[in-house]
Amino acid sequence: MNPIQTEVAIIGAGPAGLVLARMLQLQGIDAVVLERRSRDYVLSRVRAGIIEQPVADLLVELGVGQRMLADRLVHDGVQLQHRAGDGMVRNRIDFAALAGKTVTVYGQRELVRDLIGLREADSLPLRFDAEVVGLDGLSGDRVAVRYRDEAGEHTLSARYVAGVDGAHGITAQLLDAGQRQTLQRSYPAAWLGVLVQAAPPSHELIYSRHPEGFALASMRTPEVSRLYLQVPAGDTLDDWNADRIWDNLHRRLDLPDSPVNEGRFLESSITPLRSVVHRRMRYGRLLLGGDAAHLVPPTGAKGLNLAVADMAQLSRRLGRALRHGDASALEGYQDSCLRRVWQVTHFSWWTTDLLHRLESDEFGDELRTEQLRTLADGGTLARWFADSYTGLPLSPWS
Ligand code: FAD
Ligand code: DHB
Repeated sequence: MNPIQTEVAIIGAGPAGLVLARMLQLQGIDAVVLERRSRDYVLSRVRAGIIEQPVADLLVELGVGQRMLADRLVHDGVQLQHRAGDGMVRNRIDFAALAGKTVTVYGQRELVRDLIGLREADSLPLRFDAEVVGLDGLSGDRVAVRYRDEAGEHTLSARYVAGVDGAHGITAQLLDAGQRQTLQRSYPAAWLGVLVQAAPPSHELIYSRHPEGFALASMRTPEVSRLYLQVPAGDTLDDWNADRIWDNLHRRLDLPDSPVNEGRFLESSITPLRSVVHRRMRYGRLLLGGDAAHLVPPTGAKGLNLAVADMAQLSRRLGRALRHGDASALEGYQDSCLRRVWQVTHFSWWTTDLLHRLESDEFGDELRTEQLRTLADGGTLARWFADSYTGLPLSPWS
């Protein structure tokens, strides 16, 4: 039997794969999305919550923003909290005044739901429970993408392959470590996250540097909080019962007039903190992007946003290659992504270092407290922070 043919095989139905599929659709380019997990699993996965302004604007331009615009919370500032004397102080970084931009609070789960809904409404190929197990012919004219579903193994023949299968995907693993040219940093900490049926303590996010470790009060809606705690790397959810989680959240976040509100846990998870950059993002007809190509610790709220920025580059370059016969457009893909990747990797590393307690270090504690005071002063450092957090401009996607 002849394999199914497509122009672009997209491996992974995360934000990167689904956004790319939409951009290609709008350019009239065929694509098949293969996702190893079930539809229910993908629709229920809780992850990111903060969308940069340029990314939110792009989603609207792609026709994906209808529900987001209706349901989102727009934040024009963020609260940074730290120890001062015997108490804690909370300072506001005013994004609107410092950078002229805002961020959108809208769950990744909702965004993924919107993207899947659109693709299905347009009856475009998106296969769940379809795990890619191998790629053949990356340096030839077409790539054979081998995948497995409940009916057995199949082959999809594609002109190009987008490896957007996340941090635990197959595409980066198909290449050996030397080919990937990977640089990485691990941190001796993880984030324990809980989704809670209770109002957030403030109408804005609160990032807290506390002697016992970092904590973050975020939200999904005015009735649902998303709370995070720094915990030691290697801890599991079994190490943290509800009482211990609430005690730590209260100690690290509460101010007398805005305590964390307790409520039912709707979800809980632990995520290690890591920075990873695979400096090679292209291998013949395979192009990597999103978490498959780089990982940032979550402190700067950047992973999803960076994944979308990669896809804007990839979409435009695939358009050049497939619609204008200019295959050389793909040669610049990796270099055009990597500057932003390193800028965002730096911002995520810097905010992680600033806000976490990663070692006992009084000298470092003083330096970080002074940086937090400098941020509160609203000068150059605050402008850089606000500009980076709300999002650097994106390149055109078509
Ligand atoms: P993924 O979302 O991981 O999608 C990859 C997909 O590929 C998955 O569905 C996977 O099942 C599939 N797949 C894997 N292997 C195969 C295979 N062999 N065959 C077929 N399919 C395969 N980012 C932000 O921008 N803002 C935030 O506020 C933020 N907060 C975060 C908080 C937490 C706690 C965490 C964990 C992450 C956060 N992030 C945030 C990061 C963000 O969630 C990720 O960067 C984002 O999901 C990356 O998207 P992606 O499409 O590249 O990868
Ligand atoms: C959320 C996640 C982040 O990593 C962050 O920096 C801010 C908010 C969230 O899930 O809401």
